[in-house]
Amino acid sequence: MTTVHTPVLPEELVRFLATERLAAKAEEYMVDCTLGEGGHSAVFLSRFPNLQVTGVDADKEIINVARERLKEFGGRIEFYRGWAQDFLSRLGAGEAPGTLPGIILLDLGVSLYHYQKGDRGFSFRGTEALDMRIDTESSPSAAEILASYSEAALADMLFFNAEERYSRRIARAVVEARRRAAISDACTLERLVWEAVPAACRHRRLHPATKTFQALRVEVNGELKKLPGLLRSAFSALRPGGRLGVITFNSLEDRIVKNFFRDRATGGGNGFSRLSGTPILKEALLLTVKPVTPSRKEAEANPPSRSAKLRALEKL
Ligand SMILES: C[S@@+](CC[C@H](N)C(=O)[O-])C[C@H]1O[C@@H](n2cnc3c(N)ncnc32)[C@H](O)[C@@H]1O
Repeated sequence: MTTVHTPVLPEELVRFLATERLAAKAEEYMVDCTLGEGGHSAVFLSRFPNLQVTGVDADKEIINVARERLKEFGGRIEFYRGWAQDFLSRLGAGEAPGTLPGIILLDLGVSLYHYQKGDRGFSFRGTEALDMRIDTESSPSAAEILASYSEAALADMLFFNAEERYSRRIARAVVEARRRAAISDACTLERLVWEAVPAACRHRRLHPATKTFQALRVEVNGELKKLPGLLRSAFSALRPGGRLGVITFNSLEDRIVKNFFRDRATGGGNGFSRLSGTPILKEALLLTVKPVTPSRKEAEANPPSRSAKLRALEKL
């Protein structure tokens, strides 16, 4: 079984998410909300023989790669094909407290698999159709967004989803280009962005189309919009004493996670009731005060890990 994605921060995840139950070799239940090719689940399942895992992924292709890879663990892993927030809300609402997960993992975004084998226009280096849907049964696709959003909405999308500095220039170029022909494949969009940005920005470390592709992927899959709800569902599904670990790959996501974690650890606001001045009950203990980032060795061995940030908490 060949996989292409290298799991990021594996040792750090084990260190921060291994609960007391796991340390005591008791039974534990983990939900890997972003299973991908199953790299992180494989690490946990091999280390902890009493661990049971549910692997969740909204992508029906990649979950089959994980099924194949994780076969050796037999009934210790089961699979759910769908959005993590749907799985977690059901779990939080319907399950007996004793069967709730002690570990929940979110490794956000898409996998290297999507860039290399996804065939859906995730990479600006390809010639594929601009689809970018993780769940190919949902809509709209990236090409549909480029064809239908107003110039102002395109500029906002580029700025708010990826902090693209040239959002307005790129949005204008998209609107002008689509009058002539639909922008339907990755290399057409890459060329368009290249032409739209100032010539001086074309040869920097980051390719000028990087943020446009990121913004579109985030928009297509509702990644930023869904994140607060996803975090709330994860936290409420976790059993007391359980641990939540979230890996992000950009500052916009990390800010949402940081604020959510801070509010759980302080009871919201500054930690004191505005009415009575008494401390508000804390719901969580921060296990990482600052985000954990890859070691130099990991960043060199696996360059896509460079922007990863891990935050972890324990539910009280
Ligand atoms: C960064 S990759 C995970 C890689 C994985 N941890 C590994 O080690 O192989 C993220 C995966 O989660 C999936 N995904 C992203 N957001 C999701 C969500 N909200 N619900 C379900 N799956 C999601 C993507 O399809 C992708 O396969």
